[in-house]
Amino acid sequence: MKIIRAKDYSDMSRKAANILSAQVIMKPNCVLGLATGSTPIGAYAQLVEWYNKGDLDFSEVTTVNLDEYKGLPRDNDQSYYYFMHDNLFGKVNINKERTFLPDGMEPDGEKACKDYDRIIADVGGIDLQLLGLGHNGHIGFNEPGTAFAAQTNCVDLTESTIKANQRFFASIEDVPKQAYTMGIGTIMHAEKILVVVSGEDKAQIVKEAFFGPITPKVPASVLQLHRNVTIVADEAALSLL
Ligand code: F6R
Repeated sequence: MKIIRAKDYSDMSRKAANILSAQVIMKPNCVLGLATGSTPIGAYAQLVEWYNKGDLDFSEVTTVNLDEYKGLPRDNDQSYYYFMHDNLFGKVNINKERTFLPDGMEPDGEKACKDYDRIIADVGGIDLQLLGLGHNGHIGFNEPGTAFAAQTNCVDLTESTIKANQRFFASIEDVPKQAYTMGIGTIMHAEKILVVVSGEDKAQIVKEAFFGPITPKVPASVLQLHRNVTIVADEAALSLL
């Protein structure tokens, strides 16, 4: 596990974007596993800037996102599909038909999960998976207690995650209560994993996840067992180490 120390959020974003763009340059037809949330936004903006300068070409890249809310249509501005288009896919020359997320509008949970696992297998697995870190140690929507072996699954979001997401919705009633998420087993199969973390409010969970015991109580702690993990974190997030 390699920890790269960044000065602040923008330094973290640039460093993470460098790692992502190195992957695209080294293997133009790579499969990137992508995340939403506030942490990767700066890295996506940096990738878009380099694309606009002519330094990056996404034409052969395939992406699979970690998760999607169940029940939100793609054109809802809080869907993860919308987020990805807004922050990256709509701003670079990626083939939109090669950008995959779980189908949030598939009401049959079992089918939605099986379909997504098939998509990930069909694209040949993930070369580089980008992850953010939840305050309770979740990765994707894999909340504490999730089996480490799990494939794509439908989860009931915890109260703390629903509350954390509330800021994006008009009221707490509008926050989806379920989501489809890539499982920890699938995430652990990625060739390489890149975790981005920023802010003092993440310092405690950084310490627990990467320096504490490996336990399903802290889902991200499983990453200690992966052979190729890079964590790019700013000084605030590393302040308790
Ligand atoms: C997003 C995701 C989540 C976030 C995590 C951190 O696709 O799967 O696990 O990465 O909740 O979110 P932020 O970056 O908003 O702190």
